[in-house]
Amino acid sequence: MKELSRILKEKTPKSKIRELFDLAAGRSDVISLGIGQPDFATPEPIINANKAALDKNITHYAPTRGVPELLQQIERKLRNFNHIETNWNENIIVSNGGSQALSLTFASLFNPGDELIVNSPNFISYFYLGPFYGVEVREIERKDDFGPDFEQMRAAITDKTKAILINSPNNPTGYAMSRKELEELMQIVLEHDLYLISDEVYENYLYDGMEFFSPASREEMFERTITLNAMSKLYSATGFRLGYAVARAEIIDLMEKYHQYTVAGTNHAAQYGFIEALKMDNTFFDEILATFKERRDTAHNRLEQMGFEVVKPKGAFYIMPSVQNFNMTGQEFSERVMKDIGVAIVPGHVFGSYSADKLRISYATEIGKLKEAMDRLEKFVSSL
Ligand SMILES: Cc1ncc(COP(=O)(O)O)c(C=O)c1O
Repeated sequence: MKELSRILKEKTPKSKIRELFDLAAGRSDVISLGIGQPDFATPEPIINANKAALDKNITHYAPTRGVPELLQQIERKLRNFNHIETNWNENIIVSNGGSQALSLTFASLFNPGDELIVNSPNFISYFYLGPFYGVEVREIERKDDFGPDFEQMRAAITDKTKAILINSPNNPTGYAMSRKELEELMQIVLEHDLYLISDEVYENYLYDGMEFFSPASREEMFERTITLNAMSKLYSATGFRLGYAVARAEIIDLMEKYHQYTVAGTNHAAQYGFIEALKMDNTFFDEILATFKERRDTAHNRLEQMGFEVVKPKGAFYIMPSVQNFNMTGQEFSERVMKDIGVAIVPGHVFGSYSADKLRISYATEIGKLKEAMDRLEKFVSSL
């Protein structure tokens, strides 16, 4: 038989996160600190609107870019929350989650041989989308506090560099870039005539009074920024598979072509759920964020007390301790804790070349379970 796709066979490993869940399968005692999705229920108005759309037989193809009312609601949200001025008819496309907003971005920006700069560790998909589109992903090791290393970033820029991709607040480190850091980043992008891809799916998960800032809100940045977002994290609606990309008209036109020939749109009825979500008053999230802050503080304090080197996250719902003090790699540690104490934790090497000594812990888990997982970890660590 002739050879199948080399990119998928050789350059794309099976998800280590899924492997971890395979290890947990059939064990009722396992506490998962692995999953990257919020654990609260999707708000009811969203579910009801999705159901009502089905009852009205909205079961046929949606417009390729998305239902106009949804695009208009996104335009409104971008103006009010992100201070980004757009025209819904030109600058927005609805995608299958943040994930497909990413692939639309890669498809519309890059030519084979282009280079993309990302801080590392970073979200897993960035590394594997590169080969799919012939893009060389250049990893810039984060500083010890997980902040961006601008000196290294500047040094990595070549004439092939087309874009820098940021995700702040970040999965997996929990880092959120300060306004000063974002200013410096925008300066680099402008100086070198680059594009900026801003993955903003965790924009609502910021602690300690930090405020979110979208680079595309700057007039001079709008034409060179692709802003990505999704309903997944704010509304605990990962299964809706809806997100969107925001960019200048020419880029959205290219995305639309790719969208047409690859997926032909997104789930039509689900878009009515998203419309209702965007109409909601986001104060529903205040209490949820307070819960996440308590979890963040619990995870951070307990890990520090156990002797892990650990940076306090500023946002998202992940924390990334180093296991160096325990003379193990992240992979060894992750396998041992799964086998010995039934706690599922993702090893750091999944998130790039600079995190083999780390773990990614998701604290999107109910506080009682999180504390129980920390108790088990404490016992494990003290037995080493
Ligand atoms: C940084 C980041 N971007 C994008 C996504 C994808 O989001 P979605 O589930 O909406 O496709 C995730 C999901 O975990 C993420 O962590």
